[in-house]
Amino acid sequence: MKISVIGLGYLGAVHAASMAKLGHDVVGVDVDPARVDALAAGKAPFFEPGLDDLLTEVAATGRLTVSTDPAAVDGAQVHFVCVGTPQRADSNAADLTYVDAAIEGLAPHLHPGEVVVGKSTVPVGTAARLAGVVGDAEPGAVLAWNPEFLREGFAVQDTLSPDRIVYGVPDGEPGEQAAAVLDAVYAVPLAEGVPRIVTDYPTAELVKVAANSFLATKISFINAMAELCEVAGGDVTRLADAIGHDARIGRRFLNAGLGFGGGCLPKDIRAFKARADELGAGEAVSFLGEVDAINTRRRTRMVELATEVLGGWVEGAEVTVLGAAFKPDSDDVRDSPALDVAARLAELGAVVTVHDPQAIDNARAKQPSLHYERDLEAALAGADAVLVLTEWKQYKDLDPERVGALVAQRTVLDGRNALSRTDWTDAGWEYRALGRR
Ligand code: UDX
Repeated sequence: MKISVIGLGYLGAVHAASMAKLGHDVVGVDVDPARVDALAAGKAPFFEPGLDDLLTEVAATGRLTVSTDPAAVDGAQVHFVCVGTPQRADSNAADLTYVDAAIEGLAPHLHPGEVVVGKSTVPVGTAARLAGVVGDAEPGAVLAWNPEFLREGFAVQDTLSPDRIVYGVPDGEPGEQAAAVLDAVYAVPLAEGVPRIVTDYPTAELVKVAANSFLATKISFINAMAELCEVAGGDVTRLADAIGHDARIGRRFLNAGLGFGGGCLPKDIRAFKARADELGAGEAVSFLGEVDAINTRRRTRMVELATEVLGGWVEGAEVTVLGAAFKPDSDDVRDSPALDVAARLAELGAVVTVHDPQAIDNARAKQPSLHYERDLEAALAGADAVLVLTEWKQYKDLDPERVGALVAQRTVLDGRNALSRTDWTDAGWEYRALGRR
């Protein structure tokens, strides 16, 4: 099948390459020439494990082409809209500029029988509105909403082996037709045995924000328990293990620490609440404001903890921050808790050196005033305190003895509860973590 993918960011680039791997002829379109050039050369425009290999594999087949020209979508039977929906600059609502522009750009190129598939995360009600735009442009074309649940760092795996597939389609014949086309796109081997939920537009749109809100709530729940552990002298990691054994709760996404960041969870819960307010149902999700507040408080607590271990005065202290990405196996620094804490400490006068295996360039672009060091040992040299703020494997594997020989003071703050407390304390370190004595 001939497929177009509009928007080649984290979602679209992986989707385009994955669809080519499934055997489709894919044309990817993006307004950013740098992104298109990278993909044309078979290179991922960002760090995502497995994506370079996948691009090399599909390049050999010639089934993936990329372009900055919106007309390149002409002739595709299915058009996936994968553009971003960031938070608006003036409010918590989602900015739909890119989605609207993508649909407008696509409209003149639509033909009868084609299916436009929205994958971007949008406020509920958007699909119905866009279905009108698509229908006005080409009455024979259909819009479907097919949310994407991929996680950065696992994007290729999540796209090629999803745990469920959701289609939001209109009622009747056009909806059945759109679902059948999507089934053909995702045909074996991707969709075999995968639960498939065919529903209406609003449900499909809500599935995505509900899932992300649930995950954010789960993280903030355990971080709220961490606050309690801090004042009561408990240990949130043991608490999470214990409650996680209840299969109804589950241990996954119960890792207390600096909390969530990235391009999805923070902006999605805010946009969901803003949309619910617009619909007059703000009260139903007012708890999401609390989820957000708990999350932000963890960053403040980390700054306080750093101040405390440095004797109440951070000015002039040498602080090494390990991690800038919002999570490991990613170079994404959007709303990164690690980078936020690093910047706050620098504002307080600390001499902050940031290390990250992948995210330094992105971090520098966002926080140019911080000092960055690509060599891990050089970053650790002379530190008065070491803060582990993103749990990259190479930080978890650090040898506390070896690191101890590099630093000025053996003080480590484990912002992700990722290190072995015993190993570090045995090596003579003062070990402090969020939610633990
Ligand atoms: C998320 C959703 O998981 C994914 O399904 C959706 O499609 C997009 O948003 P992503 O933003 O890539 O994916 O990252 P995720 O792995 O969910 O982590 C989000 C944040 O939560 C990270 O900052 C991570 O460090 C934090 N987190 C995660 C915790 O603090 N504790 C946990 O237990 C899990």
